[in-house]
Amino acid sequence: MPTTGNLVESVWTYLDHAPLEYVSGQTIAQGTGRSRVAIWKAIHALQRLGYRIEARPALGYRLVAAPNRPFPWEIRKRLPAPERIQRIEFFDRLPSTQETASQLAEAGADQGTVVVAESQGRGRGRLGRTWVSPLGGLWMSIIVRPTVPSPQLILLQLTAAVAVVQALRKTLGVSVWIKWPNDVCLGGRKICGILVEAALEPDRIRHAIVGIGLNANFPRISLPAELRSVATSLREELDREVLLAPLAAAVLREFRAWYALLQQRPLVVLREVRRHARLLGHVIRVDQAGTRFEGRALALDGLGQLIVERADGSRVVVGTGDVSVLP
Ligand code: BTN
Repeated sequence: MPTTGNLVESVWTYLDHAPLEYVSGQTIAQGTGRSRVAIWKAIHALQRLGYRIEARPALGYRLVAAPNRPFPWEIRKRLPAPERIQRIEFFDRLPSTQETASQLAEAGADQGTVVVAESQGRGRGRLGRTWVSPLGGLWMSIIVRPTVPSPQLILLQLTAAVAVVQALRKTLGVSVWIKWPNDVCLGGRKICGILVEAALEPDRIRHAIVGIGLNANFPRISLPAELRSVATSLREELDREVLLAPLAAAVLREFRAWYALLQQRPLVVLREVRRHARLLGHVIRVDQAGTRFEGRALALDGLGQLIVERADGSRVVVGTGDVSVLP
């Protein structure tokens, strides 16, 4: 039974243990050591969060339906037992989950701490861009404290991309691909962006924040006009709403597993990246801070960098930039 100090979450746990069955206020009050009035208030708080809970005088309360919101308790319940203790901070709106996660990391939050927001006002994208983050998306940041040296940050980005690929395949049966270095695409359009920001010290990474932005439950029309031809959402492609908490839990489960592999057997992660990276073999254009060139994407090296062969046969190792496949 519940051990958390948060009464709303504890009450939810009682109701969620027996969905559609009545649980008496008395049982919950005894189990949590709180008054029946406190339980009643927590029930109201859950109702305000969108839970449909019926109350019957002689019977108690029963959970009829849950809202499609990525609450920490809904995510945690879908994580394997050892990960259930993972700290998950939920916000309905934040400027940016990256910003909040980095503040928590600076304050000493553990590796694995997650920040989730239902919408962001100043979502951060790569290369200083803004990331449009309307309600309905899955916006989250994970704190990691890697032991790998800094050049391998790109591998961290690719590890997150693999986690998203696997999570979408396992929870929704959707097949997506990785557009090096940080996009996950469905068909020809971007469905997810990944941003890794690190606090570096001369000889180590103090922490890194892995930001994952998954366009889930909003229509493509919610995106600014200039993005509509290059980005899409799961709802748009699948023609239905996806459940956010199971999706978030799947991404976190996969990320944890692939991140563990990254520390021990990075080549296994790279092999998975290669399996899902569609650029390889294609003629691409690389845009890097002011320079632009074309060539064939040959391979990924052991650090996750892209090796591009130009028309004159010279090879360029690309570690960052925007890449697009030429028709
Ligand atoms: C990109 O493709 O440019 C990367 C986008 C990363 C967006 C995510 S949403 C969650 C996290 N919080 C942010 O402010 N950005 C990342």
